[in-house]
Amino acid sequence: MTDKTSNQMWGGRFAAGPDAIMEAINASIGFDQRMAAQDIAGSRAHAAMLAATGVITDSDADAIREGLLTVLSEIESGNFQFSTALEDIHMNVEARLKEIIGEPAGRLHTGRSRNDQVATDFKLWVRDQFDAAEKGLLALIGALVDQAEAGADWVMPGFTHLQTAQPVTWGHHMMAYVEMFGRDLSRVRDARKRMNESPLGSAALAGTSFPIDREMTAEALGFDRPTANSLDAVSDRDFALEFLSTASICAMHLSRFAEELVIWSSAQFRFVTLSDRFSTGSSIMPQKKNPDAAELIRAKVGRIFGANTALMMVMKGLPLAYSKDMQEDKEQVFDAADNWMLALAAMEGMVKDMTGNRESLAAAAGSGFSTATDLADWMVRVLKVPFRDAHHVTGALVAMAEGRGVDLPDLTLEDMKSVHEGITEDIFSVLGVENSVNSRMSYGGTAPAQVRAQVARWKEILG
Ligand code: ARG
Repeated sequence: MTDKTSNQMWGGRFAAGPDAIMEAINASIGFDQRMAAQDIAGSRAHAAMLAATGVITDSDADAIREGLLTVLSEIESGNFQFSTALEDIHMNVEARLKEIIGEPAGRLHTGRSRNDQVATDFKLWVRDQFDAAEKGLLALIGALVDQAEAGADWVMPGFTHLQTAQPVTWGHHMMAYVEMFGRDLSRVRDARKRMNESPLGSAALAGTSFPIDREMTAEALGFDRPTANSLDAVSDRDFALEFLSTASICAMHLSRFAEELVIWSSAQFRFVTLSDRFSTGSSIMPQKKNPDAAELIRAKVGRIFGANTALMMVMKGLPLAYSKDMQEDKEQVFDAADNWMLALAAMEGMVKDMTGNRESLAAAAGSGFSTATDLADWMVRVLKVPFRDAHHVTGALVAMAEGRGVDLPDLTLEDMKSVHEGITEDIFSVLGVENSVNSRMSYGGTAPAQVRAQVARWKEILG
């Protein structure tokens, strides 16, 4: 039995006819309704410009601009009937405008196309998200700077290979993330500046024969200038890709810090106590307090970087100018933006609420022969021993301490002398972790004075 309304080859198992499937694959209204406010702002600017240049009458422009505000309030109050048959937000808005104001609505689409319209709307949407990311990053950086200031001189182990390396300060560790998020902030600002050109008026791909004023719409929408090539303008999604790649790098940073918080809050480390507000319990193990927010932040990089990869693949190899493939840009960016903002806010909240456990940090700072480098440096400085030889002597002393199950400061002067004659009592002055961190005064080093200088620099930047 063949159903004439569906495809001869594969229609047998489809309840819906191909036109419904076409509608389903074609429509973007399910997601691009998130750009309603941007679409209406773009159309209002366009209508004002069409009147100013004499392309349409003032009274038509007024009717259009008023009517669009009515549409906006219907959408914002949830009283708007979105239609899949009308495909996307652009046609949904225009169709409703026609119902409200009648004939003048048909003049709105003069000298433009959905191709420059969607590029404009999407740019406006992404630009808002760059601004939101800037705010989120500034708040997170502020919270980290506060932590750094409070614990500028708290000693803790610094790691390489997650093995105890040298003592560092809590403040120094916090400020490391300030630098990372500071670079993210500069990428956000840089990309926002580059993307802030208006595609509106590029029309379908070639520009338009109407005497439009692209400077005027660009200015009305807060763009720095109009784009300079209409083919490029309707086919460019670099701004979305820069948003996603910036988000990806930032999410990677967030995941590294989140991972440290997961490790640090464990019973084995106890470096940090996360607040109850950012933890969960276990339904079966009463002793547990889980760092779920940190774990989820750690995971967010997966979907954000996935969005970046997905859009790169969509754009790769597309010929100029607009292709419908590009409709696949929005869901990736929407999802990445939502999750990036959420991760930034959750991390800020966690950092604000967390307590560094000064005693546990200090106890761990001194373990694992963390001041071995200081011992070697002392020999170089005081005994003028070449560093390589000092390294060797220190290694022998570490082996001796390890064999006895003690730490370096627990060895006697006699023990030291048995490995190298020249060592004096003065050696003990560098073996304490406080001495160790205080001595690292090189610019950007871990000494509390250096950390406080960086805290002051960032406070100045944050204003
Ligand atoms: N919904 C479309 C998109 O998101 C709008 C542009 C459609 N343009 C076209 N010529 N079909 O990309």
